[in-house]
Amino acid sequence: MLAFMRRHIGPNPVPTLCDAPNLEPFGSCRVCSVEVALQEDGPTRVMASCHSPVGKGMYITTNSPRMERLRKNIVELVLTDYDTERLKKEDHGANELYNVVQQIGFDIDSVRYPKGKTHQNTPMDTSHPYMVSDLSACISCYRCVRACDEVQGEFVLTMAGRGFDAPSPRAPTSFKSDCVSCGACAQACPTSAITDVFKSKETKADEVVRSVCTYCGVGCNLEVKVKDNKVVAITAPYDAESNQGHTCLKGRYAFHFYDHPERLRTPLIRKNGELVPATWDEAYDYIVDRFADISESTAPMRSPGVSSARCPNEENYLMQKFFRVQVGTNNIDSCARVPTAHRPRHAEDLRHRRGHQQHRRPEGHAHHHGHRCQPDRCAPGDRRQDQAADREGKTLIVIDPRRTELARYAKYHPSCARAPTWRCLTCSCTTS
Ligand code: SF4
Ligand code: SF4
Ligand code: FES
Repeated sequence: MLAFMRRHIGPNPVPTLCDAPNLEPFGSCRVCSVEVALQEDGPTRVMASCHSPVGKGMYITTNSPRMERLRKNIVELVLTDYDTERLKKEDHGANELYNVVQQIGFDIDSVRYPKGKTHQNTPMDTSHPYMVSDLSACISCYRCVRACDEVQGEFVLTMAGRGFDAPSPRAPTSFKSDCVSCGACAQACPTSAITDVFKSKETKADEVVRSVCTYCGVGCNLEVKVKDNKVVAITAPYDAESNQGHTCLKGRYAFHFYDHPERLRTPLIRKNGELVPATWDEAYDYIVDRFADISESTAPMRSPGVSSARCPNEENYLMQKFFRVQVGTNNIDSCARVPTAHRPRHAEDLRHRRGHQQHRRPEGHAHHHGHRCQPDRCAPGDRRQDQAADREGKTLIVIDPRRTELARYAKYHPSCARAPTWRCLTCSCTTS
């Protein structure tokens, strides 16, 4: 119903708290409630719009005195366990609870219920290298738990107990465990009760630049926050086809390499066994000379070229063309077929190896992984899609002599111990 209303009324037809663009509807906060009647001016029922299906002949009232009272009461109850003074001072753009308070016109100072027991003394957990949790600001919306389960598939977080008597921390358990620092929980949390060391959501920037991650071949889109000409934080846009509001640890947090003092800033040419800094003109001249030598000599067949899976298809195409036509060798390969980035995953991919591009799994396909790839290490965005496919009941086949982490989710895991992986993979693709 909420998606229907967004399509027809606008992006913000009713306030929401537990809903998030890349999570399944959950229906826990109820601030999205609407009145629904099955005939005009007929009796109405109150339904949470985010997880109720829309039906033919429904009369939906998004705003009425009854709904206003209900929403104010819900928010008032939430605020009985929230530091209202802190809420007034926080970054209001990033705090969705504050935004909802504003949207429904609730006066933060008018909470009628006595405070009683609260969780506001819960200490901060800063033990994790990237994630920070301050559960005194938690509103028990479950978005972090669902993000960890549904988006990353890591199942690290959980909720324990109910109400004020629930043991603290009542929300996510400690980050020690299988946490892979993907930041999905931090991006999902509406109040920054879970955030990251960069405060990626709250950090103000001069400019937000849409970019594509350069680490692996999945092609995750990024929103890069730039302040004083420096990257200060990265978030994942929800409208990106390839990653839909998610990235791995590398894409989201490992961004300091771009201005690291040890970063190579000039080409290096090996002279007398030493790598010596050179200008780009010197480097290009050197490359041209060396290629000319190779082409003229009898050795081109012994001069292979390896292109990168991080390049677009067009560049990979040019690379092979250059080697075949100019250098005169068919010894050309791409790291797309080794564990670096895109591994062959469908029969189609086996014929057309892909470089860096946006992609999303076709619906309803079996998913193959093979050739000694470990997407949890080298392309976590892909691995996340594999786990999601597994949860959706699709068939995941992992072909690897090792028992990789992904093999835990596979329906079939032929180990290929006695047969080359490629033979196994080719066989599975030609018979599927
Ligand atoms: S950072 Fe990722 S893996 Fe770790 S708890 Fe959050 S969602 Fe789960
Ligand atoms: S930590 Fe944040 S996302 Fe998780 S339940 Fe609390 S408020 Fe919701
Ligand atoms: S947004 Fe619908 S119940 Fe929370």
